[in-house]
Amino acid sequence: PPSTEAAYRARLLSFRADPADDERAALYFEDGLLVVDAQGKVAAFGEHAQLRPTLDEATPVHEMGDKLIVPGFIDSHLHYPQTEMIASPASGLLPWLENWTFPAEGRFGNEAHAADVARFFVDQLLANGTTTALVYCSVHRESADALFAEADARNLRMVAGKVLMDRHCPPYLRDTAESGYRDSTALIERWHGHGRQMYALTPRFAPTSTEAQLEACRTIAREHPDIFIQSHVAENQDEVKWAAELFPNRRSYLDVYEHYELLRPRAVYGHCIHLDHEDRRRMAATRAIAAHCPTSNLFLGSGLFDFDAAAAARMPVTLATDVGGGTSFSMLQTMNEGHKVARMGGHHLSAMRMFYLATTGAARALDLDAFIGTLAPGSEADFIVLDPAATPLMARRSAQAEALEDLLFALAMLGDDRTVAASYSMGHCVHRR
Ligand code: GUN
Ligand code: ZN
Repeated sequence: PPSTEAAYRARLLSFRADPADDERAALYFEDGLLVVDAQGKVAAFGEHAQLRPTLDEATPVHEMGDKLIVPGFIDSHLHYPQTEMIASPASGLLPWLENWTFPAEGRFGNEAHAADVARFFVDQLLANGTTTALVYCSVHRESADALFAEADARNLRMVAGKVLMDRHCPPYLRDTAESGYRDSTALIERWHGHGRQMYALTPRFAPTSTEAQLEACRTIAREHPDIFIQSHVAENQDEVKWAAELFPNRRSYLDVYEHYELLRPRAVYGHCIHLDHEDRRRMAATRAIAAHCPTSNLFLGSGLFDFDAAAAARMPVTLATDVGGGTSFSMLQTMNEGHKVARMGGHHLSAMRMFYLATTGAARALDLDAFIGTLAPGSEADFIVLDPAATPLMARRSAQAEALEDLLFALAMLGDDRTVAASYSMGHCVHRR
């Protein structure tokens, strides 16, 4: 954290509600001031003219002109061991896992390799304005230690877990129900609540876990009611068919997870494309969360997430990159593709809503809103500085934008890591373009 109070003068945007429910959801100051205290928490947020006179003489004020400060992005689903195999094509999810993913993940038992990729991965998150992410590690316990150590060293609020898989994968990537239980428990004890780190129990997906392993997951989940859970569901038609064959007694693929008590608050399911009405009802009733991963779904040809059905069921939804199935670390590029996926379903996703989903909305859905996701006083000061003139084209386009929605929309369609001028964690600058 910074050793003294500091202030940032820029355009400021935060949210007090979901723009889908409330047209006054956005809190926006054209000439705003964000004040961060010496502990790295937001002290004040509002109109510059009102707040400036309240500042201590010694407080430095960083003048950021037309730049836009928003809460740091939250990426609710991605895989750090897939960093170096991003953009590897396949005819669908299952061959992609077999041909590219599993071989790449096999190297993460090597501590030096895991540490090297973890450092690069965290750099990529911060360069893209992502200050919190829900991260899959590999099956190796060392891979989770490497990721947590890297996030802890930079004081980032990170959620991660070791993958559990004990069947239908290469032998070099297999744990067992017992070793998965032991390693996950040891990692929870070491990292959950250590500084800003939080643990996610991470059964990869139902097809790669035996019933014994899913039972072990149920035990861990019962023993640790406040940890996260993350997995994949209903991403691809072949995967859904396979899950139905493997679990013939369950009503649906999602029902496998409910049977093992893995649907609950802070349980995040990647994709959720091929769900039915009852599945969506169960997600909403249990407050389990869908992580919509548009760049991945389009890249792998998985299908189109149904925004209207999710909204009608009142199912919590977040946005995620799903790197390396996803093709970009950028939550702005993820909004761009998310907008197109919604368009294909006849739905318009406003920029306001997309920025909400990537910040405050994600924090609320994930029960992290006591810590992050807004610029409200008392929040941990995780924020990013976006440059609406990051490229010559963006400068011209932004100059035409009179309404905030129009400016945000251009940022979401055209933006990427070049748009992120700086990222801050607990008031400390952790990336500068
Ligand atoms: N389903 C099971 N594992 C994976 C993975 O690593 N990526 C994606 N996109 N889907 C999965
Ligand atoms: Zn994934």
